Amino acid sequence: MGKTILNLLKKNWQDLLVVFLSILFLKFPNFSANSSFFGTYFVSVSIWLIFVKPKISIKPYSLHKAYFYLLFSLTIAGSLFARIVERQFGNHASLFFIPVFLASLLVSKDLAIDLATFFSISHALLHGFETFPATFLSSVVVAITSAGIKKRLELAKTAMYVVLISLVYLLIAYYTRNFYFNLKEFLIALVFPVVYSIVGIGLLPYIEYISMIYSNLGMMELGNLNNPLLKSLSLRAPGTYYHSTIVANLAEAAAERIGANAILARTAGYFHDIGKIKRPYFYTENISEVNPHDELSPKLSHLIIQDHVKSGLELARKHRLPLLVQDVIPQHHGTRVQKFFYHKARAMGEEISENEFRYPGPKPQFKEAGIIMLADAVEAAARSIKNPTPGRIQTLVEEIVSGIYNERELDESGLTLEDLEAIAEEFTRILVNMFKSRVEYPKEEIKKVISLANGSSDKQNAQKAPDEKNKESNSKSS
Ligand SMILES: [Fe+2]
Ligand SMILES: [Fe+2]
Repeated sequence: MGKTILNLLKKNWQDLLVVFLSILFLKFPNFSANSSFFGTYFVSVSIWLIFVKPKISIKPYSLHKAYFYLLFSLTIAGSLFARIVERQFGNHASLFFIPVFLASLLVSKDLAIDLATFFSISHALLHGFETFPATFLSSVVVAITSAGIKKRLELAKTAMYVVLISLVYLLIAYYTRNFYFNLKEFLIALVFPVVYSIVGIGLLPYIEYISMIYSNLGMMELGNLNNPLLKSLSLRAPGTYYHSTIVANLAEAAAERIGANAILARTAGYFHDIGKIKRPYFYTENISEVNPHDELSPKLSHLIIQDHVKSGLELARKHRLPLLVQDVIPQHHGTRVQKFFYHKARAMGEEISENEFRYPGPKPQFKEAGIIMLADAVEAAARSIKNPTPGRIQTLVEEIVSGIYNERELDESGLTLEDLEAIAEEFTRILVNMFKSRVEYPKEEIKKVISLANGSSDKQNAQKAPDEKNKESNSKSS
């Protein structure tokens, strides 16, 4: 029994300390630890360990200590800040707006809801349940409405909902106090949620930079050519850049379809091969004429190719890319075998094991990483498909997805068979559209040009049509 308690304390000492400090700050400036303090502490610790902690102890958050430290900081700083504001401006409804808002944007809606519950109950136990319904409701509304926000303007909605709740709370309070109207309370209810949302948004970039935990808003800013890493990829390795944008598109659509984080999938797609900046000319998509691998032994080729994972991770860390995007860099190859060079070695008569051509891993640890692995393999294979038809594309996608599944690379990713079916469908749909547009677009253009030429006396237009027609027949025969 004693040993169990000791183990429990050892395992959860940081959580026990965080809750202790949080309760202490919620009592500010009266730090005396009386019986009500210990009662509150016991209830709060229970809520924390039963509801809050499990939400951050799941993958992918459990892969990084930074997520725990972020939660600890939000809890402690949030408690102290709420208490200071309360002492200055009264116990208005949205005391815990900022920490709950940041938890929802940076981690998850579920964690933010439980953190809101933790704050509201702990506060009510210390200072009375009079404002509990409004505090609880407004915090939960913040958690729900700010989750997965993709535009800054959407935050205004969160603030407006909280303003509404605060006003209703005030009306009820006035009614119970025989309509005693207090202008200061009214202004606080109206203005504070808006101020909180502005402060929250202002804090985001700093927290993202320090913790490398990014909100969707921060993540979206990374995925364009303003980013120096992507800019240099597009200049040094245009083939890889093109490959990465298609992987990003495929992954985004697939993630959206199965309810995973589409923005994370897209951003990870852009950066998954960033390590190829170092020696771009060794990768198929950038090779134009002379293949440098013709001169190298298969083992050496494998080592050079494999290096893009290591170099990618180094670059990603240096540029403080999101932790989950960093994770995707080694995980998008998992522990797969580089079959091309393995078979080349075998064909040359080398007695060599498959394991020598394996990537070091780890296997994909979360859904978005699994999706990138699939999108990466599908894009590479689709590039070499000749005369693509919807049927051929579908067969190819299904073969690759089931192949990777059978290699057991997706075992730790959390992707279900149902997810895989939906992902394969989505990949097929996008690739069919991509190939279709390439074939059909010129025809439409030609029709337009011919109709323009027929409708006017412009000779230049009239000459353009046969030219385009020739182009089309050329492209068809190639
Ligand atoms: Fe790669
Ligand atoms: Fe790739």
